[in-house]
Amino acid sequence: ISVNIQADVKSGSKVIAQTIANLIRQKQQQGQNCVLGLATGSSPKTLYAELARMHKEEGLSFGNVISFNLDEYYPISKEAPQSYNRFMHNHLFDQVDIKPENIHIPNGEIKKEDIKAACADYEKQIEAAGGIDLQILGIGNNGHIGFNEPGSGIYTRTRLVNLTNSTRLANAYEFANISEVPRMAITMGISTIMKSRQIILMAWGPAKAIAVKKAVEDEDSEIVPASFLQNHDNVSFVLDEAAAAGLT
Ligand code: F6R
Repeated sequence: ISVNIQADVKSGSKVIAQTIANLIRQKQQQGQNCVLGLATGSSPKTLYAELARMHKEEGLSFGNVISFNLDEYYPISKEAPQSYNRFMHNHLFDQVDIKPENIHIPNGEIKKEDIKAACADYEKQIEAAGGIDLQILGIGNNGHIGFNEPGSGIYTRTRLVNLTNSTRLANAYEFANISEVPRMAITMGISTIMKSRQIILMAWGPAKAIAVKKAVEDEDSEIVPASFLQNHDNVSFVLDEAAAAGLT
């Protein structure tokens, strides 16, 4: 894991946006699609604002971008303000020229009996797109990536999972109260994430310092799912000073 420590969220987000923009343009020049894996939550908001700015002010086109989001609550309506579908449209997709048919987000509306097939299909769609070129990740306070909570194994694929109480509590600010936070989610698995050709994990603020330290410095284990990233050969963590504070 290579670690890149930046002064603050703004400069860290700019570094990541520049990496994404470079890849999109490089693929454009080669006449190829650029397949991005995307995260939601508070961490990527500044990143998406910067990408939207680059689209408006610098002519960065998303015309060749195919996106796959990591996860979505289950169950949730696509138009619910807390849904990751709404989040992505508000913060990025509605601000840029990505083709609607190139957007993929796990569907929080499907019937329970259809979830298995939909998850298998999500994996197939990623493969059919040629695999993920660059996966963007945040990290949970408990070391989760996507919604792969502690205990998620290295071979996990896209599936329905239970959210831990600590994750529901961390995300409760989006909802009227904690009982409204969905108890489940559909998430890419650890193996889905590990197949990406390049991975960038971002973490900002002191609340992430312990998880970051464990992910980078502890022996890899299911206890801290982000620690599995140590086994990938092209991963960088972009951190602000506070999130990096625990690193030795
Ligand atoms: C979101 C996701 C999660 C978040 C993590 C951190 O798509 O996959 O792993 O990245 O929970 O959330 P924030 O950024 O809100 O602190």
